[in-house]
Amino acid sequence: MPTSTYQGLDVLYSHAQIGARVAEMGAQITKDLKGEKLVMVGVLKGAAIFLADLARALDAEATFDFVAVSSYGKGQRSSGAVKLIKDLDEPIEGKNVLIVEDILDTGLTLAYLRKVFLQQHPKTLRIATLLDKPSRRIEKIDADYVGFSIPNLFVIGYGMDYAERYRNLPDICLMSPDHPE
Ligand code: IMP
Repeated sequence: MPTSTYQGLDVLYSHAQIGARVAEMGAQITKDLKGEKLVMVGVLKGAAIFLADLARALDAEATFDFVAVSSYGKGQRSSGAVKLIKDLDEPIEGKNVLIVEDILDTGLTLAYLRKVFLQQHPKTLRIATLLDKPSRRIEKIDADYVGFSIPNLFVIGYGMDYAERYRNLPDICLMSPDHPE
């Protein structure tokens, strides 16, 4: 397995592999939009880098909004509870909305956001996730667009963190449980 130049971490997907997949996702989303406008809603902070690249892979008029939810805290384990820390800036009623997430894991976050957003009656509500860990699912939820489906591994980089670190790694790397902090 190739290693990142940063701290010798193992690379799961290189920046080039991610770029190629994001381009494919952008093309599919563009096709599905059929010329209509899109509101991309990024889930802070992990999806920020993915959203920035996905937005530029679209051939469509897109605006951005961001929400923040309570997350994993400082470790690799979920607390289970989901809470909205930052709400949408603009109403989404009647709009084509794409939730942009870094990882679909237990599904608790996206099931909660989907419920809250549907109450606002968007025209369409779809989900794009860069990574999907189907084996970890608690809530029954699927994404409309999935970058890569992965086994139960803890990953960092390309926006994703461990205790707020490693978000700026260009590649998606593996965080082993015994990695020194
Ligand atoms: P869910 O509610 O369990 O689906 O959690 C999704 C969120 O958990 C993601 O947006 C990430 O912030 C976090 N998460 C899940 N797995 C990982 C991982 O492997 N690395 C970093 N963050 C993760």
